Amino acid sequence: DWTMAGFKAEAIARIRAQVGTGRVICGLSGGVDSSVAAVLIHEAIGDQLTCIYVDHGLMRANESEQVVATFRDRFNIRLVHRDASDLFLGQLSGVTDPEVKRKTIGRLFIEVFEEEQVKLGGADFLAQGTLYPDVIESVSATGGPSVTIKSHHNVGGLPSHMRMKLVEPLRELFKDEVRALGRELGIPEAIVGRHPFPGPGLAIRIPGEVTREKADLLRKVDSIYLEEIRNAGLYDAIWQAFAVLLPVRTVGVMGDGRTYDQACALRAVTSTDGMTADVYPFDMGFLTRVANRIVNEVRGINRVTYDITSKPPGTIEWE
Ligand code: XMP
Repeated sequence: DWTMAGFKAEAIARIRAQVGTGRVICGLSGGVDSSVAAVLIHEAIGDQLTCIYVDHGLMRANESEQVVATFRDRFNIRLVHRDASDLFLGQLSGVTDPEVKRKTIGRLFIEVFEEEQVKLGGADFLAQGTLYPDVIESVSATGGPSVTIKSHHNVGGLPSHMRMKLVEPLRELFKDEVRALGRELGIPEAIVGRHPFPGPGLAIRIPGEVTREKADLLRKVDSIYLEEIRNAGLYDAIWQAFAVLLPVRTVGVMGDGRTYDQACALRAVTSTDGMTADVYPFDMGFLTRVANRIVNEVRGINRVTYDITSKPPGTIEWE
């Protein structure tokens, strides 16, 4: 009989056999796949594993703290947390084109990751949370398996001198199986059940130029929205939910005064694979409650809209 406990034991044995006494480096993103890969590999080889978390400053509220608290403090995994937000935000200054944003972030991600792995004295293996659908996708896209840091960071491959051997213990699994394995490994539900989050982070939820101030504003809106979704018990029924900071100012009233502040959009969709998506049909009471909280609690936002576009023809993200 196939069981997750059995898979876990076999996967650990395979990792030990592959790695021997070698050193392994793993990029953590805060997402499900890299988290499960890291904890699994850590169970197999302990301190032979070091994780690198490149923080681009475009994560959601408290996410970086949560990554450190979970992996370093709770699982005792060796973790390098590199706050590279000044570098990323500096290089994004003046960039408005969505694809240039992605390329800039992808390039810097590799640069910073490489710098950190050199500081660690290199490693014999690079661990990745590649899933079965990723394997299929890269085979069909290139005619053969290819070595990439997950497409999620939007890069074509590692620099040649970084070509370590790969450890990919999740290669046979689908997403729901990775979640089950994560639970088997004791990873908190807040990470295992988390909505997908794009590699470029909030950068593609801020149409136009990205600045630290805008990212801070968006984080406040986003966390109120997600808190209300969790409180309403809707989080697991939704594929992705997030806020977008609109590059437009609108007029409002606040007390006796007139405001001229920014507008935001809320998005929530259901989906099974992200390829197509339907709008999540919140009731109006929920939406107006969230809108009131956002306008009252986030200085600088005076209007809230709900995006009711399906995919296709819309995309899930705004950029
Ligand atoms: P779209 O917006 O294309 O999104 O409908 C489909 C799924 O992909 C995610 N997404 C990305 N993920 N890097 C990523 O890692 C990206 O550049 C990127 N763009 C979109 C999106 O969040 C959704 O889950």
